[in-house]
Amino acid sequence: MSIVITGATGALGGLVVDHLLNKNVPASEIVVSVRNVEKGAELASRGIEVRHGDYDDAASLEKSFAGASKLFLVSSPLMDDTVRVRQHATAIEAARNAGVGHIVYTSFAFAEKSTIGLQEVHLATEHMIRTTGIPYTILRNPLYTHIFVNEGLLPAVERGEMITSAGNGKLNVATRNDLALAAATVLAQDGHENKVYNLTAPTAWSFDELAQILSEVSGKKVVHRSTSEAEVVEDLKKAGVAEPLIGFQVYGLYRSVANGELEDTTNDLKNLIGDSITPLKQSVQELFNR
Ligand SMILES: NC(=O)c1ccc[n+]([C@@H]2O[C@H](COP(=O)([O-])OP(=O)(O)OC[C@H]3O[C@@H](n4cnc5c(N)ncnc54)[C@H](OP(=O)(O)O)[C@@H]3O)[C@@H](O)[C@H]2O)c1
Repeated sequence: MSIVITGATGALGGLVVDHLLNKNVPASEIVVSVRNVEKGAELASRGIEVRHGDYDDAASLEKSFAGASKLFLVSSPLMDDTVRVRQHATAIEAARNAGVGHIVYTSFAFAEKSTIGLQEVHLATEHMIRTTGIPYTILRNPLYTHIFVNEGLLPAVERGEMITSAGNGKLNVATRNDLALAAATVLAQDGHENKVYNLTAPTAWSFDELAQILSEVSGKKVVHRSTSEAEVVEDLKKAGVAEPLIGFQVYGLYRSVANGELEDTTNDLKNLIGDSITPLKQSVQELFNR
């Protein structure tokens, strides 16, 4: 029996494989199911079996999931949620046909409360998994820290002002690496059957706090100013950000933050990975050390 990892050529799945190996799970007990086998060459060089599995090809998935005591099902990265639901359904049906023992799925934190636009595909997938009767663990990941802490902050540091339309709202994000460690912990341990974890950091932060940390790390005073959505849209346009991204950032991300949709926290991540949760300041320092 083996642990089958999907999305292993991507960022999260690749980190989950690294953490499983760090936890001394033998490479011979890990299989990756990837749509591009050539991209899996580096994984194969570490002794991991690489199988072909494409979310658009049920037969390939059923074969690649064979013998899985646990399946780590990474949500598809497509932007078209209607197609994503179909891809996930294909993978879940294939898991049932292959006799998978346990499905671990990457969902979205506090999905019922969310209006950000990502919630429907994840709730649909969670329900689909339950229709199979297969034991499951739902890892409801929050937004990744790097969605907010990235090179896009550097112009704000230059001008000493970070503009959002997020008000005083708080963010319960976590780093991708912390979420990968949590997933590897669930995959390597018993006792997580039929659990739903909201894997937020234990404390949420605001853009005012991010500006304060930016000031400390960069040595230049940066303040956060929350303003109208229209002004933020104009500002992002001037910075050359693509229109669809501007829409998601302002009407998806910032609006959700302002509405308090991303402020809830739990100890679920802490319970899985202990005190190694990456502080916001460390993520900012890593940005400046790149
Ligand atoms: N929580 C968040 O903030 C956040 C942010 C972005 C995305 N997500 C979600 O979390 C998932 C994992 O994040 P990530 O950062 O690891 O994303 P990522 O780096 O884009 O990885 C996505 C993985 O899915 C694979 N994939 C794409 N289409 C596939 C198909 N038809 N069949 C089989 N595999 C397919 C990709 O394979 P290739 O290597 O061949 O492309 C890749 O391995 C994403 O897919 C997305 O659903 C969450």
